[in-house]
Amino acid sequence: MTSISQRLVHDAEGHNTAAWPLRQKTLLTPTEEFFTRSHAATPTLDPAAFRLEVDGLVEHPQRLSLDQLAVLPRHQVDATLICAGLRRDELLALGPLPGELPWGPEPVSTGRWAGCRLVDLLRQAGVRDRARYVHFVGLDTVERNGERFGFGGSIDLAKALEGDVLLASALNGSPLEPDHGAPLRAVVPGWIGARSVKWLGRITLSLEPSPNYFQAKAYRVQRELNPADHRDVSAGTALSEIPLNAVMLEPTRDQPVPAGAVCLRGWAIGTGGAALTSVEVSPNAGADWQPARITLAGTAWTWSLWEATVELPRGRHVLAVRATDRTGATMPATVAATWNVKGYANNTWHRVPVQAS
Ligand code: MTE
Repeated sequence: MTSISQRLVHDAEGHNTAAWPLRQKTLLTPTEEFFTRSHAATPTLDPAAFRLEVDGLVEHPQRLSLDQLAVLPRHQVDATLICAGLRRDELLALGPLPGELPWGPEPVSTGRWAGCRLVDLLRQAGVRDRARYVHFVGLDTVERNGERFGFGGSIDLAKALEGDVLLASALNGSPLEPDHGAPLRAVVPGWIGARSVKWLGRITLSLEPSPNYFQAKAYRVQRELNPADHRDVSAGTALSEIPLNAVMLEPTRDQPVPAGAVCLRGWAIGTGGAALTSVEVSPNAGADWQPARITLAGTAWTWSLWEATVELPRGRHVLAVRATDRTGATMPATVAATWNVKGYANNTWHRVPVQAS
């Protein structure tokens, strides 16, 4: 089992807590409803002793306390964090995905992150010309194949130099909680959640992507099984930007609904956070489509909330939602198009079977 902790799934009333913004008509997920995904136990870190190391291809390696980081200009970004395993459960229709969490639409939340900009710290350190990637390593201790190391990953230098990549110390107006990476985490808006490394302890500038297990051997899309090791995806493509996606949160799968006008609601987000150009719903598994209304438009890096009403006669129906965005991306119709060995980044039309009576 790869998971040490993952919070959320369902609250006391049985709602998927990812639906909280729909109920409250806000883009932001309150911290207590925010999903967590950690591959090891939350480390206990003493803020007074905490130091962030910056090394590799920099002119001036750094070793910074939280007070020294606090001197950098403060910046705030609203961003939706999406785990690459979102909607993996739909791929199980094509066969088992051993060792992977069968997430449905749960591991996604939107937060108001605050801290300093990565670009400001990189300017202070002086990036050398040869640097192409920025590696992050966390202060947690993951065990894989008999080795113990901090969770890590990397982003392209070009992404790192965008002003909105944060070294965040606050979420939704309060200091980060331990499970979300206190005292400091990376927040990489528009990229899969795994690159937003929590309990950030080291930043390394390099010519190559991170060799960390979670960059080199996991969070990669590989469509062919390696016959020697069915769980090895090291030959796949490393995940970076989140794909265009649209998810229906109401009604939920197999929920009884009254025949007649039925309200559908959910969220959608463009590739890497790009603006949406359409959201459409289908009352009949994709045979016919009608536009959905955007009820709360997202900001640059967040989801948007949508709503639509469809007419359902009595009987069993498969509802569906799909979206398009400014990059020209569309969502594939079937899971055969997105299947990959570890079941990442599923963005097929989201289908929800219901019974109308
Ligand atoms: N950072 C560290 N150090 N360890 C982890 O296990 N999990 C990653 C990422 N950063 C992880 C990490 C994954 S897979 C996701 S989806 C997000 O953190 C989840 O962030 P959250 O728990 O604050 O929601």
